[in-house]
Amino acid sequence: MNIVSNVKNYVCGLRQLVKFRSKKIFISKGTFLHPKVVIGKCTRINATSHIDQCTIGAFCAIGGRLVVRSSNHFHNFLNMQDWAQQFVLKSNIKVVGKSEGSVEIGNAVWIGDSVIILPDVEIGDGAVIGAGSVVTKSIPPFSIAVGNPAQVIKMRFPKEIIEIICQIRWWEWDLKTIQKRRELFEIDLNNSSPNDLLKIIDKYKMINKT
Ligand SMILES: CC(C)(COP(=O)(O)OP(=O)(O)OC[C@H]1O[C@@H](n2cnc3c(N)ncnc32)[C@H](O)[C@@H]1OP(=O)(O)O)[C@@H](O)C(=O)NCCC(=O)NCCS
Repeated sequence: MNIVSNVKNYVCGLRQLVKFRSKKIFISKGTFLHPKVVIGKCTRINATSHIDQCTIGAFCAIGGRLVVRSSNHFHNFLNMQDWAQQFVLKSNIKVVGKSEGSVEIGNAVWIGDSVIILPDVEIGDGAVIGAGSVVTKSIPPFSIAVGNPAQVIKMRFPKEIIEIICQIRWWEWDLKTIQKRRELFEIDLNNSSPNDLLKIIDKYKMINKT
């Protein structure tokens, strides 16, 4: 597919599109993407979504129909519809807020299908958001959160393992380094001890010991 026909697939500036291609980012056809959305390398949005201004980290797996909202309508005026407020009422009072602190989605996050993320929410690195969740408050790194409103039901790994992953920050490595260290990505972290993980980390000198 050439770049021009791809631009039609989602609302996106040409420069943004070129950046996405070079960073191996995939965004499904028909997605609305705010022009200021920032996305990290190798993140994939697998089916049509609506994404307001936000940042999304690298290596995120995002299902279909994600909605990220970065503002609310004011509900303290009689009318809540901004077009009518401006063009029918000709009022100078806006009834839609500007971005209220934009959403931040960390690195290596998995977001299931049909999730809604509301303004001002931060989703930590490595978190999982269950299908159909409505995320109203920030979600800690490496937790699994589900439901409406989304609540943490468990952590993905034991605390010691999470601490090690937070130190190595693998999503910041270049792709060649990641490929060379594939062994790290092939161990079951729920059936390994922190020492098993540290052995591999030492083998590839992933943590600088100064
Ligand atoms: C969140 C998820 C990963 C949890 O999987 P899991 O770790 O195996 O958790 P479990 O299935 O053991 O569920 C634990 C509890 O959470 C509940 N739960 C799981 N997913 C839920 C969801 N999406 N919404 C509400 N509750 C959910 C379960 O009913 C269970 O409740 P219980 O303890 O009262 O019985 C999974 O359920 C999910 O939502 N996957 C997303 C699938 C998807 O959208 N794929 C698209 C590809 S990107």
